[in-house]
Amino acid sequence: MTQDQIKARILQLAEEHNALLMAHNYQRDEIQEIAHITGDSLALSIEAARTDKQIIVFCGVHFMAESAALLSPEKIVLLPRHDAGCPMADMVTPEGLRELKKQHPKATVVTYVNSSAAVKAESDICCTSSNAVNVVRSLDCDEVLLVPDRNLGRYIASQVDKTCHIWEGFCPTHERLKVAQIEKARADHPDAIFMAHPECAPEILALADHICSTSGMYEYAAASSATTFIVGTEMGILYRLRTQNPGKTFILPSEGLICPNMKLTSLEDLLKCLETLSPRVTVDPLTAEKARLTLDRMLAVPRD
Ligand code: 13P
Ligand code: SF4
Repeated sequence: MTQDQIKARILQLAEEHNALLMAHNYQRDEIQEIAHITGDSLALSIEAARTDKQIIVFCGVHFMAESAALLSPEKIVLLPRHDAGCPMADMVTPEGLRELKKQHPKATVVTYVNSSAAVKAESDICCTSSNAVNVVRSLDCDEVLLVPDRNLGRYIASQVDKTCHIWEGFCPTHERLKVAQIEKARADHPDAIFMAHPECAPEILALADHICSTSGMYEYAAASSATTFIVGTEMGILYRLRTQNPGKTFILPSEGLICPNMKLTSLEDLLKCLETLSPRVTVDPLTAEKARLTLDRMLAVPRD
């Protein structure tokens, strides 16, 4: 089959199964092109909970599909590549978090959505890159544990008036971005605006004109009067930035900004997933009950 035939068959099967095709902003271009919905972790979780479709095909990584399964326990959530994980999410275990909680018994545990359901179940509330500062500010407490991303953690700590204990996890993709690469991109494009994801290292965020989630970058680039942008996040975001803003230029400052896990899902995987309705992502009910609470609490925080 040609790529166009595979795309047509995927869309036909999705319709027959009444399935919703969701894709994270970092997915391959051809996956984003045929997805019914694209977005950041927060937007996709909200859509997963809101849709009346009974089958959700989540083109992303495991923790994202798991969040959809937590928020929609009655629905079937499929992840076309069961091996699409997130190294940052794997940097914290429930046992490790329990140990840290013992050291800081008064602290509220704020866990980035890039984490397993088992870690969420040990937490008080979740956050994503688009609402993290707002979530932490909303808490009626003086002390927080920020898990697992040290870069997002330090960024939050710089924005809030609370004692922050930070887990030492990180995203290997975002940490590949170096100061010299930003300086070079700035020298080549002196009028460019630098947008950075909060998973970048602090010395990179210090250079940013705007720090935001992946979806925040679409909004910012569309609204800005600037015409050139240096993009400090995974390269998958370029597809929609470029198609939605044909008159603007988007520069990727590093060739290292590729998340291998986000790139695993191919059209062939998506087709097979719809043919077999597998692999399915489920969470055991006891863990799910506790983990869901942390997402519900996050979703109840008013948006800023
Ligand atoms: P967003 O919440 O901005 O989509 O980011 C998720 C992610 O995995 C970033 O690396
Ligand atoms: Fe995880 Fe980083 Fe990939 Fe996002 S980009 S899924 S944080 S490894």
